[in-house]
Amino acid sequence: MAQRILSGVQPTGNLHLGNYLGAIRNWVETQQEYDNFFCVVDLHAITVPHDPKTLAQDTYTIAALYLACGIDLSYSTIFVQSHVSAHSELAWLLNCITPLNWLERMIQFKEKAVKQGDNVSAGLLDYPVLMASDILLYEADKVPVGEDQKQHLELTRNIAQRTNDQFGKKDQPVFKLPDPLIRNEGARVMSLLDGTKKMSKSDPSEMSRINLLDSPDDIKKKIKRCKTDPVKGLSFDDPERPECDNLLTLYMLLSGKTKKAVAEECQDMGWGQFKPLLTDAAVETLRPIQEKYQQLMTEKGYLDSILKEGQEKASAIAQQTLSRVKDALGYLPRF
Ligand code: TYM
Repeated sequence: MAQRILSGVQPTGNLHLGNYLGAIRNWVETQQEYDNFFCVVDLHAITVPHDPKTLAQDTYTIAALYLACGIDLSYSTIFVQSHVSAHSELAWLLNCITPLNWLERMIQFKEKAVKQGDNVSAGLLDYPVLMASDILLYEADKVPVGEDQKQHLELTRNIAQRTNDQFGKKDQPVFKLPDPLIRNEGARVMSLLDGTKKMSKSDPSEMSRINLLDSPDDIKKKIKRCKTDPVKGLSFDDPERPECDNLLTLYMLLSGKTKKAVAEECQDMGWGQFKPLLTDAAVETLRPIQEKYQQLMTEKGYLDSILKEGQEKASAIAQQTLSRVKDALGYLPRF
């Protein structure tokens, strides 16, 4: 039996190159080796204030982008998190097993909480427990994500281990412990305006990120205005030049060239020569994705049928795990 993969993206606004290079592209590349489940995590999307008028449409957008980026239904299942109620149910059970101070330590919670002041919901604090539920319900072996999710995966393993210690039998653990799958390159795509800050959907400046659905003109404008430095000759891995390393890495990943080839090609270049190359690589990578996306969004019936099938497949697995967990916790079985 192939090992199982589970991962997901939140339907909040536009996906950017960080989401693509840190996560979705890697799902596509390895999907033939695994039994894959890719979820649109719409329950996570309401942990910060959200607009009910756009949530459903954003959910279609992410599902269509998964397909447009190359997720293939012969190897992968695509579904919507809120369509499988076991996610919320398991999250409750795990809430009661997870110590509060484990959640208070999460870097992403602290960062997001600062931005929201008095408006922080209990859901924002609880977000990693829901994420642990997503993963553990499917007994995922591997979870391919960007670097920013690493701490949440460590927490998932800790929750699983604690549940096993408290409620598992020696030869019958409640949960399988998942491993993170984080690549060396692309796992942390940085902002175009600051090479020390992660590219993020929540950055107030649109100029900080390239979205998968940006027009060629927008891409050109953003790269033209992105932060660089006054040094001529471009090189990787210089801690004094975080923007340079980020932009070269983007060029390498988008052009499909090796690091060595890019280092040689760009070693004597100035920014004026490099920026059009990066622009072309981004536009050409995104063009087929955008075309496929536009076509899929006119076929809502088709998307519905995929998500319905995904819901059925995911529910069957998730319900089995949920029953096993409830049994281990001592619940009276359902009638
Ligand atoms: P989300 O929606 O913030 O991001 C989706 C994926 O994109 C990666 N990512 C990045 N990678 C590289 N550079 C960046 N600048 C960058 N920004 C984002 C993220 O690491 C992620 O892989 N909690 C998750 C969603 C989630 C999930 C799960 C993931 C919910 N349940 C279960 C895996 C398994 C999140 O908010 O990702």
